[in-house]
Amino acid sequence: MLSKKIIEEVKSKVDIVDVISRYVSLQKVGNNYRALCPFHTETTPSFYVNPSFKTYHCFGCGASGDVIKFIQEIEGVSFIEALRRLAKEANVKIELDETSSFHSLYLKFYNELHEEYKRNLNDFAISYLKNRGFEEDEIKKYEFGFAPIDSDIPYKIAKKLNINSLRKLGFLHGKDPFSGRLIIPIKDEYGRVIAFGGRILGEGQPKYINSYETEFFKKSSTMFLFNIAKDKIKNADFAIVCEGYFDAISFHRAGLTNAVATLGTAFTKFHARKIRKLTQNIVLSFDMDSAGVKATLLSLKILLTMDFNVMIVVFEDGKDPDEILKTKGKTGLFNIVQSAIPAEVFVPKALSKKYDLKNSNAANMYLNELKSWSEIFKSAPQRYENFKNKVKEILGYDVDFEKPSYFFSKKATMLPTLEDMLVYLYLNFPEQFEKLDVDASLLNFEAQKFFNFVKDENFSFDKLSKEMEGYIESVLKKMENTEIDETYMETIERKLLERKLEKRIKEIDKYLEKASDEEKKVLLQTRIELVRELKKLGR
Ligand code: CTP
Ligand code: MN
Repeated sequence: MLSKKIIEEVKSKVDIVDVISRYVSLQKVGNNYRALCPFHTETTPSFYVNPSFKTYHCFGCGASGDVIKFIQEIEGVSFIEALRRLAKEANVKIELDETSSFHSLYLKFYNELHEEYKRNLNDFAISYLKNRGFEEDEIKKYEFGFAPIDSDIPYKIAKKLNINSLRKLGFLHGKDPFSGRLIIPIKDEYGRVIAFGGRILGEGQPKYINSYETEFFKKSSTMFLFNIAKDKIKNADFAIVCEGYFDAISFHRAGLTNAVATLGTAFTKFHARKIRKLTQNIVLSFDMDSAGVKATLLSLKILLTMDFNVMIVVFEDGKDPDEILKTKGKTGLFNIVQSAIPAEVFVPKALSKKYDLKNSNAANMYLNELKSWSEIFKSAPQRYENFKNKVKEILGYDVDFEKPSYFFSKKATMLPTLEDMLVYLYLNFPEQFEKLDVDASLLNFEAQKFFNFVKDENFSFDKLSKEMEGYIESVLKKMENTEIDETYMETIERKLLERKLEKRIKEIDKYLEKASDEEKKVLLQTRIELVRELKKLGR
């Protein structure tokens, strides 16, 4: 049995800063460390590691936890697996019998269930597959199965194996959700079945269902056919990523066994990291409907910031790899992979479809959207050149993304306030903050709350974030890429002084209402001086 003590021992023996710094580049700020969050895409660091609490926290996306959770999340592995890896590193011996035996029981359950589903593959299902172009031997090769109508097979097997919790197996009580469906085995990277996809035979909704997620099956890190594809990805030095079971299978049938599919969910950093270990090159092959283009753009943001070279297959409307193989055969599928276009050409083209570029407002909105992409492409000169050329081709004129021009201007409401500047300074350069003499009563409600929080001796990032995540995120967003230099500090000091003066002026105004004529004279004199000072500060 895993005791709490062992877990604590592992946590205390591994250095959380050391572990996390293998994934992100940490920068020391005060007693903490800061980095660009590995769990979401950002350009301003809002990910903090606190070595004394041994925790991490992202104010941008809310990711937080201890070193075990970090490994779980970043590697897409179970708690046990994360613990196992860290324990090994820390030279702590752990008894994993009980938990690891559940893992083997889990695999046994899925293996037996799969065998049973395969045994039930009937003529109805076989003719469906043949209609989709499969030969007998291919049907065997991809290990399709069928869940009979009114199946109770999962429950029988669970019972036989003495497993009480169906939920832990990815099933709920009730009838077999896969009943009447074609079964597609989903395997882990070692080729062991960990879940199923089930397709309806013919038309109907939902077209696909999956096993529920479990400790051993996470959609965000699992890729269909990755177990077969991984060697080929390494040899061919590129991976094909598509979005459907039958799309991935189509690539494999055509000999492109370096293809994998996501499981009806977005492509994530976890997927990307698994591929990154094998290659730096990816061909994205998503549908080109609006959902597919959106998914492609999101995936691109992840992949490009991870330094992948990405090419995109641009399908005609409504076509997918499965369809291409059916209508144009293997050569057709090869050709379409060959014709993939680089990300920096795809992006301006795809985005231009959303706008009527003859309209100058729309063109500005288009350029605004491209601006953030230009930042991403900028890091590679050739890519950036291609990107700008494509934009020029589309618009008919050169665009200088470096020049801050009218269409990139920030909205007035987005300008940072004194509060924003102080909170930002506190989070990033606490030692600089300490140099200031900040009277919190001069600040707005949110900022007062923030500083009350951090002054509390029981303060922790976790607590802070629970209370103020939205606020902190909005501040960090507004302050994106702001450098802290002398001017920054001077601005803060000036603004603090302004506030002080304004406050005194307000107080005087209040007094004035009730003051006697004699008092009024003195007060007005003071007021005039205060206003003069305020003006001197640049108002
Ligand atoms: N998907 C899902 N649930 C649905 C629909 C789709 O999980 N209700 C996932 C499946 O993994 C599917 C992928 O999203 O493979 C792509 O969906 P779609 O393009 O609709 O299906 P196709 O792959 O084209 O399926 P088919 O060729 O079998 O019609
Ligand atoms: Mn299809």
